[in-house]
Amino acid sequence: MNEVAAISDLNDRWGIPGLAVVTVGQGGSPRVAISTPLANGEMYLHGGHVTAWKPKAVGDVLYCSPNTIWKDGKAIRGGVPVCFPWFGDKTDNPAAPAHGFVRTKAWQLQSIEKIGEDIAVSMFSQSSDETRKWWPFDFQVVCRATFGAILKLELVVTNTSVAAFSFEEALHAYFAVGDAASVSVSGLDGTLYVDKVDHFTEKTQYEDIRFSAETDRIYLNTRHDITMSDPVVGRKISIHKENSATTVVWNPWAEKSAGMGDLGAGEWKKFVCVESSNVGTYAVQLSPGESHTMAAIMRCA
Ligand code: BG6
Repeated sequence: MNEVAAISDLNDRWGIPGLAVVTVGQGGSPRVAISTPLANGEMYLHGGHVTAWKPKAVGDVLYCSPNTIWKDGKAIRGGVPVCFPWFGDKTDNPAAPAHGFVRTKAWQLQSIEKIGEDIAVSMFSQSSDETRKWWPFDFQVVCRATFGAILKLELVVTNTSVAAFSFEEALHAYFAVGDAASVSVSGLDGTLYVDKVDHFTEKTQYEDIRFSAETDRIYLNTRHDITMSDPVVGRKISIHKENSATTVVWNPWAEKSAGMGDLGAGEWKKFVCVESSNVGTYAVQLSPGESHTMAAIMRCA
């Protein structure tokens, strides 16, 4: 069966007329396009990746790079990549793919459900001979995205191995902003962070975060809601986290952005990443048969 016929079969099985359709997306990848009375959205099987969420009142909340390379083995640059089972470089193997292996491969559709006025899309990925080359454990990871006036993302990791394992995870959200240089992020005042652009030095955040250079930080033990104020667009995006102990804040700034083939000069101004996560010493331990759910709930007004 060719790819287009397979996508059409998925739509016959899971589509909800007028609300959710499985179609051919960028690069020929299957995607679920959602259209509810309150919001539009889009999620790709490639990486179990939400690429768009547009509440009717405010428009695009997520940034997706126009220069994304839509290809197997490449991560989509924007939306919400899923990082698992490690974050950044794999500490014991620099040859391993950054941010783990699930964001660059095809996932499977588990369900599309109508819940009140919202649409919830669940996709999953699991261990295979390919993943065991990098990481010896068996797992299933589900990304469930509920699209409506609010976007709720849940990452459910299940240990299907016979041994316990420890993993890192992130919902690496790229938020669309008018100009990163004028954005401020509140909710992390007084928090310790690891500054990745200053030799991983541990520092304390005072007041709001503002961006004036490359910023790449892991905020530790962060349980509060985080709010991003965007004076250029005139709106605030807030993130409520559940079971997420770290928050990564990233903007590559001008030079790095220009040097990234899937981003480009000037693109850095258009987004700020605020990533609900469990990384570093906050990695999650999971016994055989156990599951762990991390959630990020996003609002924009
Ligand atoms: C952030 C990391 O989460 O993702 C940064 O903290 C990294 O160090 C950035 O540069 C982008 O990563 P990638 O692999 O998608 O280019």
